[in-house]
Amino acid sequence: MRRVLFVDDEPRVLQGLQRMLRPLRDEWEMTFIESGQAALDHMTEHHVDVIVSDMRMPGMDGAQLLTAVTKQHPNVVRIVLSGQADKEAVLRTLGPSHQYLSKPCDADTLKTTISRACALQDLLHSERLSFVASLKNLPSVPKLYQEIVKELRSQEPSVPHVTRLVQQDMAMTAKVLQVVNSAYFGLRRQVTSAAMAVNFLGLENVRSIVLFANAFSQVDLGASKGALDRIWGHSMSVGRLAQDIAKQEGQTKQIVDDALTAGLLHDCGKLVLLANLGQELVEATRRAKDEDRALHEVETEMLGASHAEVGAYLLGIWGLPGQIVEAVAFHHTPLDIAPRGISLLGMVHVANGLVLEDQGTEAEERRSGIDLEFLSQSDLQTRIEAWRGLSVQAKKG
Ligand SMILES: [Fe+2]
Ligand SMILES: [Fe+2]
Repeated sequence: MRRVLFVDDEPRVLQGLQRMLRPLRDEWEMTFIESGQAALDHMTEHHVDVIVSDMRMPGMDGAQLLTAVTKQHPNVVRIVLSGQADKEAVLRTLGPSHQYLSKPCDADTLKTTISRACALQDLLHSERLSFVASLKNLPSVPKLYQEIVKELRSQEPSVPHVTRLVQQDMAMTAKVLQVVNSAYFGLRRQVTSAAMAVNFLGLENVRSIVLFANAFSQVDLGASKGALDRIWGHSMSVGRLAQDIAKQEGQTKQIVDDALTAGLLHDCGKLVLLANLGQELVEATRRAKDEDRALHEVETEMLGASHAEVGAYLLGIWGLPGQIVEAVAFHHTPLDIAPRGISLLGMVHVANGLVLEDQGTEAEERRSGIDLEFLSQSDLQTRIEAWRGLSVQAKKG
């Protein structure tokens, strides 16, 4: 049974939630508390899976509460349920909260958001990786970050230039998608491309996200900088190739966008490992090479989960669209869900394999290539040569 804690200073709001969520009382054990401090006290005594907090409260406000929860109970899923259209306040919770919803919120939205977050929690049960839930951002490529800060601070920032920079960076792409897809913005359809996200949010909001949240530049990768560059170059190639494949297959604009984003983000778990467990990643890479095994297998053995699961967990808990999270989660093991025909997962899996073939079986992803059994099960064998052609073309171009 999931334990969900609701915090709001207005008793009426809590009573409303209690009434609305009554049908779920067999699934969730729910507690309703009227202040931040009382919530923290409760959490020292009782296990909580998810906390849903109001933003503006007397004494300790939502941002302070969730910041404290991040430190004291990093594994708890943190959701803001905020009534005010105060951009500044919402952006203040970008770090400490996983997702934000706006009041009034219907039971279905609340239920889906909480259930999805809990399902993701199950993906990473390894103690070793419990820090992942407390991460606020992925590390940005320093060069791109400096350039976007410069552009956003200039007299007349150019939207196309800002968009191009966001589109190339995993951290910024993930963050704008997190914000734009939050129920807070109330868009009816899911946004999967960085370009569309920048467009919806507008330059002002992007500026606040990049400058105010100001967290992208803070990870010091030290000696791992070369590794960051390699992951970045590889991810860009996979993103572009997945996009080309989707176009060639005559997929809709939405799926073409999905393919670029999922391709760019597919290895974002490696960034997480690099920035937080750099030594372990080096060791896993070495072992994979020595023993001629796939890196994701060695990671799972050593850490309890692979970079694919770590990345998917983080993107999922930030509320990125499910199809992208799925493609990231299974990009090395597509047979785990074996979708039929042309799928986003299939395109990302194959693009990753082709790019690796191209890079001369880069040792770190050796034997992580294309799964032939998957190709045959999803009836894609006939497409693979055409897709390989795209990969060759991209290299020439
Ligand atoms: Fe990978
Ligand atoms: Fe990859």
